[in-house]
Amino acid sequence: MESAEIRRRWLSFFEERGHTVVPSASLIADDPTLLLVNAGMVPFKPYFLGETKPPAPRATSVQKCVRTPDIEEVGKTTRHGTFFQMCGNFSFGDYFKEGAIKYAWDLLTNSVADGGYGLEPEKLWITVYLDDDEAEQIWRERIGVPAERIQRLGKKDNFWSMGVPGPCGPCSEINYDRGPEFGVEGGPAVNDERYVEIWNLVFMQYERGAGDGKEDFPILGDLPSQNIDTGLGLERLAMILQGVQNMYETDTLRVVMDKATELTGVRYGEKHDSDVSMRVVADHIRTSVMLIGDGVTPGNEGRGYVLRRIMRRAIRNMRLMGASGPVVADLVDVVIKTMGQQYPELITDRRRIETVALAEEAAFLKALKGGTNILDTAVTETKAAGGGILSGDKAFLLHDTWGFPIDLTLEMAAEQGLSVDEDGFRRLMKEQRERAKADAKAKKTGHADLGAYREIADAAGETEFVGYDRTEGESTVVGILVDGVASPAATEGDEVEIVLDRTPFYAEGGGQIGDTGRIRIDTGAVIEIRDCQKPVPGVYVHKGVVQVGEVTVGAKAQAAIDVRRRKAIARAHSATHLTHQALRDALGPTAAQAGSENQPGRFRFDFGSPSAVPTAVMTDVEQQINEVLARDLDVRAEILSLDEARKQGAIAEFGEKYGERVRVVTIGDFSKELCGGTHVHNTAQLGLVKLLGESSIGSGVRRIEALVGVDAYNFLAREHTVVAQLQELVKGRPEELPEKVSAMLGKLKDAEKEIEKFRAEKVLQAAAGLAKGAKDVRGVALVTGQVPDGTTPDDLRRLVLDVRGRIPGDRAAVVALFTVANGKPLTVIATNEAARERGLKAGDLVRTAAKTLGGGGGGKPDVAQGGGQNPAAVGEAVDAVERLVAETAK
Ligand code: SER
Repeated sequence: MESAEIRRRWLSFFEERGHTVVPSASLIADDPTLLLVNAGMVPFKPYFLGETKPPAPRATSVQKCVRTPDIEEVGKTTRHGTFFQMCGNFSFGDYFKEGAIKYAWDLLTNSVADGGYGLEPEKLWITVYLDDDEAEQIWRERIGVPAERIQRLGKKDNFWSMGVPGPCGPCSEINYDRGPEFGVEGGPAVNDERYVEIWNLVFMQYERGAGDGKEDFPILGDLPSQNIDTGLGLERLAMILQGVQNMYETDTLRVVMDKATELTGVRYGEKHDSDVSMRVVADHIRTSVMLIGDGVTPGNEGRGYVLRRIMRRAIRNMRLMGASGPVVADLVDVVIKTMGQQYPELITDRRRIETVALAEEAAFLKALKGGTNILDTAVTETKAAGGGILSGDKAFLLHDTWGFPIDLTLEMAAEQGLSVDEDGFRRLMKEQRERAKADAKAKKTGHADLGAYREIADAAGETEFVGYDRTEGESTVVGILVDGVASPAATEGDEVEIVLDRTPFYAEGGGQIGDTGRIRIDTGAVIEIRDCQKPVPGVYVHKGVVQVGEVTVGAKAQAAIDVRRRKAIARAHSATHLTHQALRDALGPTAAQAGSENQPGRFRFDFGSPSAVPTAVMTDVEQQINEVLARDLDVRAEILSLDEARKQGAIAEFGEKYGERVRVVTIGDFSKELCGGTHVHNTAQLGLVKLLGESSIGSGVRRIEALVGVDAYNFLAREHTVVAQLQELVKGRPEELPEKVSAMLGKLKDAEKEIEKFRAEKVLQAAAGLAKGAKDVRGVALVTGQVPDGTTPDDLRRLVLDVRGRIPGDRAAVVALFTVANGKPLTVIATNEAARERGLKAGDLVRTAAKTLGGGGGGKPDVAQGGGQNPAAVGEAVDAVERLVAETAK
């Protein structure tokens, strides 16, 4: 039975029994405790905990899962895989143990004709938790499984939790006896290779607290209801129903291994080492495709790093099997074809998936080349010094410069008999992260010590921001800092940081730069504000200079921002949201925001993309943005609960921390984002958005720079002027310019070639005359001479060889020509075979000549080149050559 059919039967069995079919959630878990979805129940966790009411009491799904704690084991054994599909049925306070057990038994043992999987009941063995008499009784009395095929196991095997705080409960597992060829008898308690677990029924009824892994944690109490969470490994069942030895030989993975055979010539089942590689490739490529499909891109942190690790491991294993060129395109293609039957989005998203995968392969092949050299040298050095451990520094260098995942370094070092100082490596990684954090902080505040700001906040409370709807307002000075130190007052000329109890100034955040403006004190003092920052949460710090008068803590103030500038920033910020949405529409969810900066009239927007965005796509994106402007869409901001915002589909950034209440900015029906920034009221206020182009700013991140409003207009007007000037020069209509200019450049190139040809011919024309003028020096034909200044070294060489060719081969010949280029003398000397037989070597002659010229040179016996500093010495050099010829030829 094919995998797709197993899946279909699963869903229809439970659908017929009142379960709502829920499509697989994205592998990117909507759960801060998890990097990737690793069980079918993950999307249902809030229902088990009673945090949210389930939309229906029963559900079923086939969930994509990725588990990566044992990446190194993948392939070495046949039981580990990183990607798998978990078929599940779930009850939220509806049926419990008996219902779950009965459904599982029926589906497994019903005949194939009846919609079941047709397993023989005698091959099924059951495990239950130590004290779960109830479950055992159901299996024996209601289902009729004989007592000798039911075993009790401890917490490790038969009590399930997510490994972190959350729902949990005792479980009962159904295991399949693969027969004596897989080992000794005795049931799953004795031999879990022969008796493989296929289905886990979890009786989810408790909540666990924090603790150590699977066994050591406290039970906090009962869940609001008794629930069912089951998980059947689709790949495991496929292995049994397809009668193969392990999951790698099942239909969806076998084809990937076959493709690897096609690419490398290595067959599966021939040798242990290459079998391991085959399995690594099949598993990892499939997992990579599924991850990229869900929007993960390779990177150096989090999920991106998981993807990078497994992709790089797969590519390397292909190379271990002998592949030398790119392999990813072919492998990804088979995965998309086979998995696409169950996940059609892989087919519609094919181009994006391929682009991401190929870019990572290209990056890795490049890194592999550079990194392997470094690693080899380091290994040799380590061994030469008698050591057995590669230093953490080297591993860090490989990671930092060449993107070598640590496990790749471990593996490659192990192949050469070395281990790696992993602790040292991790220490350096940590230091690097901390440095980056400290840098970022210092840049923002200008002061590493934040204590002074915190003290102000403790005494005066947080600043109230009134700038969403006001541009000026009354307030009180609650803190003054001079040189980062709290002061009671500041006077004319002082650089200050002022904290107010309430302010219309926006403090830099969320990519929007801080406002500038003025603070006037009731006493007449004025402070010019150049920037506003939030060095600690809730404290708005206005940075500027006291222009006149004195400001003291406690003074009443009037704060006013530069309204024109703020409006221009707001236009840029709204334009950023439009750009973000338009890019996502064009490129898919991977085009997520990676950073932005909104300045008056211009913005930059950084986003994830594995490769350059084609110009045509950029043009479409720009057009879409400008069409939205013209639709006069209202821009609204509202405060919602985080849940509600998510429900409404607001874009939130991964890794951002949001509070329970969030501000959501909505632009008509086009864009919805969590955002604390200031915006225009209507898209028409933007006028015009001009994208200036995009470029790479690091692996997988691109940057768009753009202009908005009058700045965009000014840019276009300038370009228009340039076009008009060109038109004038070229005498053509604007649309003809590219063609005309390209034709002109073509002509210019042809003309340059022609000139070059003439020049070379002219040089060679001299050859005949020079050959004729050969002088006989003791039976050697010696040609010397100075050719016109500016002859290139190449031309000189060509000329020398041409002259040499004109002297009959049976006559010894030496040709030594000189020229002056850029004020410096240059010589090329050639000898023929007959001359060399008489001991005349071009290299020796050049050295003699060059010495006279005040320089050096050398080359082979047949032709050599040299030069010097003194152009006036060419005559002397000719004489020196002649003397040496006469002496040698004696
Ligand atoms: N949550 C359980 C598991 O992952 C059953 O679905 O095994």
